[in-house]
This record gives sequence, structure tokens and C-alpha cells, in this order.
Amino acid sequence: MDIEEVKRRAGPREFSPKDDLPEEYRKAATRMIQFHANSEIMGAYLERPFIREAPSLDRKLACSAKVQDEIGHGQLLYRAAESLGLKTRDEMLDELANGEGKFLNCFHYPMDDWVETPMIAFFVDGAAMRRQATLKRTSWEPYAHAMDKVCFEEGFHVKHGEAILHELMTGSKKEQEMTQEAFEEWWPRIIQFFGPTNDKSTHHGFASEVGLKQMGNDELRNAFLNAYIPKAKKYGLEIPDEPRIRENDDGTYEVVEEDLDWDEFFTIAKNDYDGSHQQINGRQAAQEAVDWVREVLDEHEAREFGGTQQQAAD
Ligand SMILES: [Fe+2]
Ligand SMILES: [Fe+2]
Repeated sequence: MDIEEVKRRAGPREFSPKDDLPEEYRKAATRMIQFHANSEIMGAYLERPFIREAPSLDRKLACSAKVQDEIGHGQLLYRAAESLGLKTRDEMLDELANGEGKFLNCFHYPMDDWVETPMIAFFVDGAAMRRQATLKRTSWEPYAHAMDKVCFEEGFHVKHGEAILHELMTGSKKEQEMTQEAFEEWWPRIIQFFGPTNDKSTHHGFASEVGLKQMGNDELRNAFLNAYIPKAKKYGLEIPDEPRIRENDDGTYEVVEEDLDWDEFFTIAKNDYDGSHQQINGRQAAQEAVDWVREVLDEHEAREFGGTQQQAAD
């Protein structure tokens, strides 16, 4: 199949591993899904310390379930990326550990306090839900299929984040102030979650032509703002003055893009931000810590079934 035919046929769940797809499509889809998978893993590692720090047993259980879900999403997505035939799951995990793998801007920042947990679980996961819901109609069928399960579980994550936010914002004055402070710190990053405007986004045009992306960054961001500004206000959060948010006549919202720090965003996109190194080193240490498990499994597989290392890894 050539790229023109791909563009002609591009529709929801149109292509699967049985199709003979051009390299250009495979590369674009691999890049997009690998980024998504990496982000799931890095988000899980950012939240993991809060399983221990959660203030009650119920919250610990919910945090633990969420972290497990996110790791599961990462694994599902690596499989969906792997099915494009360009990279194995192991290669992608190695790239993430050695700093080549790219991941979502929000997960390059450290998270230090419990009051920050709803910034991820409510706002970032809420933003992720917006994007992922549209990806149920992406043209790479294994990716769309993974989104069915991912979206179902993200619904629980957002409810979990919302419950924590509600508890904090109806708690002590100190809790309310700390939550507001965390919100002010995270708000610009959350808005940048969707990436730059369509005209500045390098990959948008091709990805939408071949049906990988179903909606542009701007539309998604505006839909998120329209849904989440009222929710933030409902829980008593004040929307910061910067970046400026315009309220349109029809009650919808739009951000003034130049108020956002795009230099920082693009530094992060290259994994060059201060926090990036800390997160990536953490990931590398985690991967090395379980090297011995992989080795034992490989040896066992080879001994019992005569399989190769690669089969064992699969
Ligand atoms: Fe997830
Ligand atoms: Fe999530």
C-alpha cells in the first residue's frame, strides 16, 4: 500500500498488522504510541511514592490501583506500538531508561506533596481522557483497541482525583491554601499538556491525514478548558491571572497562548529540563533494579522451552 492509499482509506480502526503499510505510516504511528506508552510509565513512577504517603488505607488502595493501571496502560501501548513491526517493547523500554524516549511534559516536573496528587489524577488524567476518547477512532486498530480499556480505567482515575480534590478543598484553611498553590503551579503545565497550536505542531498534519490523530491540539485544549474551568471553580479553586484565559460570548474559554512558556515546553520535549534528568535517572535505576528478574526469566525460558532471549522477553 502506498501513502496515498493510506490517506484515502484512513478511518477509524482501518489498519491492522495484516496490512502492508508504508514505512512513513509505521514510523509516525510508532512515535505517537511510544510517546503515549512512555508517558503512562513515567506518570506511574511520579505517583508511586504517594501510595505510601496517602493519608488513609482507602486512599492507599486507590493510589496503588491507579499506579498499577498506569503501568498496565504502558504495557498495552508498547504492544500496540510493537505490532507496527519497527521496534520491540524491550527496545522502547531501553530508550526510555537511557533518555532517548520522549514523554508528556507534565511528568518531567517533580511532585512533592499530597496536595499535588489531584493535579495529576483529576486535571492531567482529565486532559488525557479528552485526547484518549478521540483515539478510540485512530486508524491503527491495535492502538484504538487498547484505548477501550485505557479510557474505561481513566474514568476511575479522574473520579479518584476529584474525590481527593473535594476532600482537600473542604478541609482546613491550610489544606485549601496549599491546594490552591499547587494548582497555580501546575495550571500552565496542564494547559500545555495538549502541546503547541496546530500550526506550530510538527507532526500534526501528517498524523491527521493518515487518521492517527482525530482532533487537533487547539480543539482538544479548548474542550478541556470548557469542561475543567467550571469544575475547578466548583471546588473553590481560583483560576490564576496568568496565562490569561479569554471567555467568549458563548461562555467557552480560550487561553492566550503567548502567556505560556514555550521555551520551557520545547526544552522538556528534548528531555533537557532539569527535572527531566531526575525522572529519567529514576526510571533507569528502576529498570536496573529488576534486571536480575529479566535474566532469571530468560534463563528459565531457555532451559525449559529452549526459547531464545527474545522469545523469553516477549
Ligand atoms: Fe493511563
Ligand atoms: Fe490515568
